[in-house]
Amino acid sequence: MRVAACLHVTTETANLMRTLAAGGADVVLCASNPLSTQDDAAAALVAEYGIRTYAIKGEDTETYYAHIDAAIDHRPQVTMDDGADVVGRIHAERTEALAGVMGGTEETTTGVIRLRAMAAEGELRFPIVSVNDALTKHLFDNRYGTGQSTLDGVIRATNRLIAGRTVVISGYGWCGKGAAMRADGLGAHVVICEVDPLKALEAVMDGHRVMPAAEAAAQADVWITVTGDVNVIDATMFEAMKDGAIICNSGHFNVEINIAYLREKAVSVREVRPLVEEFTLADGRRIYLLADGRLVNLACAEGHPANVMDMSFANQALSAEYIVRNASSLEPGVYPVPEDIDAEIARLKLDTMGVRIDTLTEEQQAYLSSWREGTV
Ligand code: ADE
Repeated sequence: MRVAACLHVTTETANLMRTLAAGGADVVLCASNPLSTQDDAAAALVAEYGIRTYAIKGEDTETYYAHIDAAIDHRPQVTMDDGADVVGRIHAERTEALAGVMGGTEETTTGVIRLRAMAAEGELRFPIVSVNDALTKHLFDNRYGTGQSTLDGVIRATNRLIAGRTVVISGYGWCGKGAAMRADGLGAHVVICEVDPLKALEAVMDGHRVMPAAEAAAQADVWITVTGDVNVIDATMFEAMKDGAIICNSGHFNVEINIAYLREKAVSVREVRPLVEEFTLADGRRIYLLADGRLVNLACAEGHPANVMDMSFANQALSAEYIVRNASSLEPGVYPVPEDIDAEIARLKLDTMGVRIDTLTEEQQAYLSSWREGTV
């Protein structure tokens, strides 16, 4: 099968590509973010494994889409996205490639939201498995992966002590929860900004302070956005921010911080460390933006470690196989990862960690499927 994968080009992704190739796929890879590529991993894929890879760390938007087009030129039968840029482009600009695609997979929350919007408008033309919805993906990758790699990115970029500082996190989905947990573990005072009352309540009972972004702005030493929505840090917040505040994003797209506003208001801008830009405002306050508002965990660190990406990419590989076997009987739409795949990945992961668990006795199994026994 010809597969076009558009993923963060990391060592973990390189091993997914090797896995697909070992399974017989004719695979090409392009980047799913202009700043997340590990150039050594890209080069090794080409030089040592013969896998065509279109990705350069720091590529401009034109090159980014030229690379996506190169992957589409491969005439994929299966797409594998992280953010839905390949699927979006095939449906909008490269419609000649549509007929050849039997189905695809999608890695991340933002991509799944885009695909569901396409499906709701009747635009989506082939079935896609939402890898993100697998429990062995979002409960671990989004929570523990994003949690650790986001703080890792902030720390590697700035070399700041987190203990005793106020870390504001916008968004309390699985990624926000993970980042909050790790900031808390490092000794930060964590403040959560959230629009969903249920998630906000969870944040309160997890022990965090919760408040509107306009109030949090004056307190943030470090501000991490991870909402998936636009202009989460906007004009009012910039006006209230402390001198020295560090702002960054760990959501998929670089839309969460209104960087255009910040650039317009700045009287001077300079790079003080790699991927750390200092914006000085007219009143003398300095705001530090990491990685141009792109994914801080992948741009300033190495993304999630292999021992959580293994589960995400097991879901990718097995979902790709599933779509190949089942696409002909699936209508266009967004489909969950089959539960048996999810459960098998959890079982295998426990195995690799040397963790053994109990199984239900026959008596216990029978009890759970019976309604006859109540209070005794
Ligand atoms: N997303 C987050 N971390 C990643 C990694 N290490 N490789 C690929 N995609 C990722």
